[in-house]
Amino acid sequence: MRSKNPLTLQFLMEKRLSRRRLLEAGGSAAALGAVSACMVANEPAAIPGFQPIRGSNSDSVVVPDNYSYHVVVRWGDAIFPGAESLDPETVSAGVLLNPGAADKQARQFGDNCDGMGVFQRGADRLLLCVNHEFPSPALIFPGWAEAARARQLREYVSARPEAVRVMQAGLGLSVIEVERRGEWRLVQDSPYNRRVTADTPVAFSGPASEHPYLNAGVPGKASGFGTLGNCAAGTTPWGTYLTAEENIQDFFGNGDAAAMSPDVLASHARFGYRRRNSAYWWETADARFDLGQNPYEPFQFGWIVELDPLEPERAPIKRTALGRFRHEGATSTLADDSRVVVYMGDDQAFEYFYKFVSRRALNVESPAANADLLDDGTLFVARLHEDGSGEWVPLVWSDSGPLSPDSGFRSQAEVLINCRAAADILQATPLDRPEDVAIDPVSKRVYLSCTQNPLRGVEASGTGRQRQIDTGINAANPRAGNRYGHILEFAEADGDAAALQFQWEPLVIAGQPTVENLRASVTLPMPSDAVYFGGIDDVSLLSPFANPDNLTFDDRGNLWIVTDGPQPTGVNNGCFVCPTSGPWRGAVKQFMSGPVGAEICGCEITPDQRTLFLTVQHPGSGGSANSPISRWPDGERSAPRSSMLAIEPIQAGVKIGDV
Ligand code: FEO
Ligand code: CA
Ligand code: CA
Ligand code: CA
Repeated sequence: MRSKNPLTLQFLMEKRLSRRRLLEAGGSAAALGAVSACMVANEPAAIPGFQPIRGSNSDSVVVPDNYSYHVVVRWGDAIFPGAESLDPETVSAGVLLNPGAADKQARQFGDNCDGMGVFQRGADRLLLCVNHEFPSPALIFPGWAEAARARQLREYVSARPEAVRVMQAGLGLSVIEVERRGEWRLVQDSPYNRRVTADTPVAFSGPASEHPYLNAGVPGKASGFGTLGNCAAGTTPWGTYLTAEENIQDFFGNGDAAAMSPDVLASHARFGYRRRNSAYWWETADARFDLGQNPYEPFQFGWIVELDPLEPERAPIKRTALGRFRHEGATSTLADDSRVVVYMGDDQAFEYFYKFVSRRALNVESPAANADLLDDGTLFVARLHEDGSGEWVPLVWSDSGPLSPDSGFRSQAEVLINCRAAADILQATPLDRPEDVAIDPVSKRVYLSCTQNPLRGVEASGTGRQRQIDTGINAANPRAGNRYGHILEFAEADGDAAALQFQWEPLVIAGQPTVENLRASVTLPMPSDAVYFGGIDDVSLLSPFANPDNLTFDDRGNLWIVTDGPQPTGVNNGCFVCPTSGPWRGAVKQFMSGPVGAEICGCEITPDQRTLFLTVQHPGSGGSANSPISRWPDGERSAPRSSMLAIEPIQAGVKIGDV
């Protein structure tokens, strides 16, 4: 897509700067591909100077001394002039079930904010793209939780079809302009403010866009509506936003009633689909989500979607060349020859890690030439060997190779639609729920969250996984019953993101470190209560944490981690910082704690390194509209609301994390 975004130049300058720093430090391109991160530390990062906080159970946001935070935008805030904001005190009275509620919702910041992209518009102006992952009907509709307990949700939703429309209007994504006037504030009259919902027209491009599966089973170019399950995200070097469609199977119901061909059934089964009701009962009020009536509709989802925040009238484009799976996120960088590389996790237990490499290079002189870069290239999947080496295996169709008619694939489009099945044949390495990816701007190493997999080494081989695989522990998934997750580090050969080989090692194996269970190295078998923090041997330097999810880097090479899941000490989810190079590599410190019931998402740092944006997703989860367990952020009689935060150091001229 065409873009005028100055982020492009900033991105390219950073890339050149990083390489120069490396060479000045005596490194070489080859050193970037070496095994150990410590060995390639070109500028040993200082440990971030902030005083770590302790985990908290309070229904509030906690940040370190010397920091302040404010809520920038909440679910239900009007993002267009003249639109009506949601009054959180009216949620428990059922205001979202009233006629017209969905139309209002579509003009408000959506629910369950998740991944973000930050686009600079000026010194104190940003465009933010923010995902809204899924609905939380029990939290927003009085009686939903009670009907669920009574097994009467079909009746509840049938009598209240507006509820489905409200859920459909509350997800997707928001584009908002924000301005720093003391604090970051929404610019309500920005021409760029935009909502994309389950009903927004979308376009398709790339090799699978004319496959009949994407066009209701008949030949023709696909078009459709909406984006679903938008989890983590990414930005491209040409200034566009990539949003990742993850748990799309939850939106479709009635699979048992569908008359599906064996091929369609096998495809849905490998992706995962619901045989009876959907998670949100949309099929009760909207036939589009009824597999019995529309068995092909799920093929329109599960893609990476590109959106130009500077072109509010242009339809988002689903880029089929990047494959179809439960896309967690999409993290871009440039190869040495300026081809674009996009790293992507498939977030389910025992699924895979992918990257896309474009065929053409980024064109800095002519931004319009980058419009279709993501339509033409090669998708790869990672195979991790026990010795710390690994390779990227291409998911490329041919009439005689491993992905051919003999193995059930008739075209490249079928490979992309059924990525998981193709990756199975290529013997990709099943990981412990691969989630977000971040790239160290200093070292160029790549980090992948593996959020958890309690079935690792516990579940019998292949059970319930739609194929026969070894579900036991291995070097890349070293802990049986992996409740707390880990982070893997990848160094591409010669430091080139387009490389076909890499070295990898665990950076952190999460949990609660104690003198007894903290390991200096990772050796198999790793007991289920053992932890590893990059080799750090001093427990007093470490904060307990679990279930790493979204990731980002600051410009000093510190990895910022947010969590989603039960923390080892029973506290709320939070945000953590981890140096990846130098003597404090692996020294995870807690930076923020969220309110009750929330997971923490977003996690983006402004280009000036002053502000950390976090999104607080589903505060009060586990409660209900009638019986809330959180009142964050508005307090008193208010329903809890997913919201986006800005956290900054109080002292001027200081970067986030430094003091
Ligand atoms: Fe939406 Fe994988 O978390
Ligand atoms: Ca996630
Ligand atoms: Ca990220
Ligand atoms: Ca998450």
